[in-house]
Amino acid sequence: MGSLLEQLKQEFKEFYPEAGSPRVFFAPGRVNLIGEHTDYTGGFVMPMALDLGITMLTAPRKDGVFRLRSKSFEQPVEFSIEDLKDDSKADKKDTWGNYPKGVVIELLKLGAPVTGADILYSSNLPTGAGLSSSAAIGMATAFGLAEVAEFEVSKQELAFLCQRMENNFIGVKSGIMDQFAVGLSKENHAIFLDCTSIEYEYVPFELEDHKVVITNTAKKRGLNESRYNERREEAEEALKQIAEMKPNVKSYRDLSLDDLSLINALRYPYRERARHIVTENHRVLEAKAALEQGNLTQFGQLMLASHRSLSLDYEVTGKELDTLFQVQLEAGCYKTRMTGAGFGGCTVSLVKEDEIDQFIEYVRANYKERTGLDPEFYIAKGSGGVREIGEED
Ligand code: GLA
Repeated sequence: MGSLLEQLKQEFKEFYPEAGSPRVFFAPGRVNLIGEHTDYTGGFVMPMALDLGITMLTAPRKDGVFRLRSKSFEQPVEFSIEDLKDDSKADKKDTWGNYPKGVVIELLKLGAPVTGADILYSSNLPTGAGLSSSAAIGMATAFGLAEVAEFEVSKQELAFLCQRMENNFIGVKSGIMDQFAVGLSKENHAIFLDCTSIEYEYVPFELEDHKVVITNTAKKRGLNESRYNERREEAEEALKQIAEMKPNVKSYRDLSLDDLSLINALRYPYRERARHIVTENHRVLEAKAALEQGNLTQFGQLMLASHRSLSLDYEVTGKELDTLFQVQLEAGCYKTRMTGAGFGGCTVSLVKEDEIDQFIEYVRANYKERTGLDPEFYIAKGSGGVREIGEED
């Protein structure tokens, strides 16, 4: 990190010559290993944080003004506390700046003594690829501003704060998984989270001779947000219909695989959406046990089943993710699935270290031939959650 950090500090000084020396914070991206589209109905998830993420340099101001710059986007963003209202909504012209702006609104609502800041962000996380770049910028900002203001708040509360920002300010009805993973992950561990009780457990993620390979479909994002919200509504409607047949059902967590025959009585798409959620929750529990027993073969089978369920029942894959999945199977990888919200974005695969080159070569050529797109590959390392970075890093 050393010289890169020095360079960033230099750039910060050039952008904000009158500011004091900045403090530096890092929020990782995340990859979800299993448990997809289960968080917003109170299910189980098992993500891990990445070593890729967003670095934020910040120095406080006293005049209520926030000046933001990002190395990934040309446009600077500026706003003042005076202009913010509790119920403001994201403004298109603020583009990426909406995330920090929404965070400031939520921090003020909690009574945090933030009084303005000069901020520079630098990211090595692909944006809009399903690796939680929005949770990362949200959590970096929330944690960094709270630390600088000496505002006492737990990382868990900050995760919920950032979720409220996404839900209310940005307008995406996302669950808690991303912010939680970005906030509370631990190095070399996956984090198993029960999204009903918010109890969590660190699961050692030991892969022996395998590595986590993330492949980006390179599909441009389309109308993902509205389709995401639509899935959430369908899932809620399906639950309502199930409760009409079985009145003691209050949540998906009251359902088990034994209830699949009941679910099969619903019509499309409710039957399919509910079937995915119930089977996926079950798969997360099995995957956790497989990981604890070091049974990667079984873990891989569960990943395949998860992908197929997300493709056929939840219908969030689309041509690119399904083609990528197929090509990866052909490359001999049987531990792979889509990850994140879907509709493009990435797959996550466990690949034997000495087979990675071959895997990448086959997937690159064949995916390109079938879709015309150039996939990107990242060998992921697990990382801890949001944190301050000192001189020694
Ligand atoms: C997005 C959301 C999460 C979760 C996933 C799908 O990443 O932000 O809350 O719902 O999609 O599992």
